[in-house]
Amino acid sequence: MQNLLVTGGCGYIGSHTALLLLEKGYTVYIIDSNCNSNPFVINKLKKIIMKKDKQLAKNLIFFKGDLRKKKDIERIFEYSKHNNKIIEAVVHLAGFKSVNESMKYPLMYWDSNLIGTINLLKVMQKYLCYNLIFSSSATIYSCLENKLIDENFPIKPINPYGNTKRCIETLLEDIYKSEKAKWKIINLRYFNPIGAHHSGDIGEDPNGIPNNLFPLILQVASSKLRELKIFGNNWDTRDGTCIRDYIHILDLANAHIAAFEYLSKTKSQIINFNIGTGKGTSVLELINTFKNVNKIKLPYSFTSRREGDQKYIVADNSRALSTLNWKPLKSLEDMCRDGWKWQLKNPNGYIDN
Ligand SMILES: NC(=O)c1ccc[n+]([C@@H]2O[C@H](COP(=O)([O-])OP(=O)(O)OC[C@H]3O[C@@H](n4cnc5c(N)ncnc54)[C@H](O)[C@@H]3O)[C@@H](O)[C@H]2O)c1
Repeated sequence: MQNLLVTGGCGYIGSHTALLLLEKGYTVYIIDSNCNSNPFVINKLKKIIMKKDKQLAKNLIFFKGDLRKKKDIERIFEYSKHNNKIIEAVVHLAGFKSVNESMKYPLMYWDSNLIGTINLLKVMQKYLCYNLIFSSSATIYSCLENKLIDENFPIKPINPYGNTKRCIETLLEDIYKSEKAKWKIINLRYFNPIGAHHSGDIGEDPNGIPNNLFPLILQVASSKLRELKIFGNNWDTRDGTCIRDYIHILDLANAHIAAFEYLSKTKSQIINFNIGTGKGTSVLELINTFKNVNKIKLPYSFTSRREGDQKYIVADNSRALSTLNWKPLKSLEDMCRDGWKWQLKNPNGYIDN
């Protein structure tokens, strides 16, 4: 397999994944509505890849389109067919991702995440493309203990965003069962990707005030926000703040390459992988590492717990380590250093460029 479609390829995870795929010599089609991204990222990707090899930049083909419109997806598959570079596999990342927003606007989340996926699957079937890597999330797990989460942990999301991810996984299970000989499906359950490409040329560029901790840290560090609000200091953890499994965005992006290479040589199946480092870091530990590595102040204060939060979400990543040709290589220090480099180089995200 040589030609892939990355849905949501202008976004945070999509842009880093597309870059690594291009570096490996694959043809990468991207479809993105840019509802939470800037199309300028395509120029950035071309610029980075051209430094390596001018020819590779030609392998990046961008279509602006919305997965909620089936025609938009058909257009790109049709194009790939006409150009004799038919899409053979899809990395499906397009969707909304904020837990808080999903609690305010559940319909918007169900519409984009579910309808978008249903349309994509219909078009994939029409064009006989049966290879899929889906961006699922650790938010589908219900974790009440301070225990590593493996793929067999109970699935019990506690917010609409997590519900859409669980529902899509169920849909994929059904699709697989209906044509077992054809489909190869991998659900990658991401933990907490942070940081940026080491060049500092691409990174996370959220619209408005971000919801996730790391982009908030970047905004406080660059004085866009006065201080960081930490939700709760009375959790049953080593320092009272929540513990998460932070993974460098390039390690996460690399998991897609490994998953794709696994799909290419394996028999039809559906399989889930946790993509995390297996190491838990508390909010205070992340803040302190960021401060020390980048020699910068980060004012913070504590506020009450946030609805829908869980105290401890850390991956047991042993299935991914033993099955995929992959392991996370970067440290928490690398994540903090590379994320800050992106922020310094692009203080207003992609808008300035
Ligand atoms: N970032 C995380 O911490 C995290 C964790 C777990 C899972 N995920 C999942 O990974 C995927 C990518 O996350 P991200 O952090 O890169 O988010 P992102 O918002 O940066 O990227 C998503 C991209 O999809 C596009 N998009 C959204 N709806 C679309 C639609 N209907 N049609 C076409 N394009 C659309 C957006 O414009 C954006 O470019 C999401 O599905 C998210 O739920 C992310």
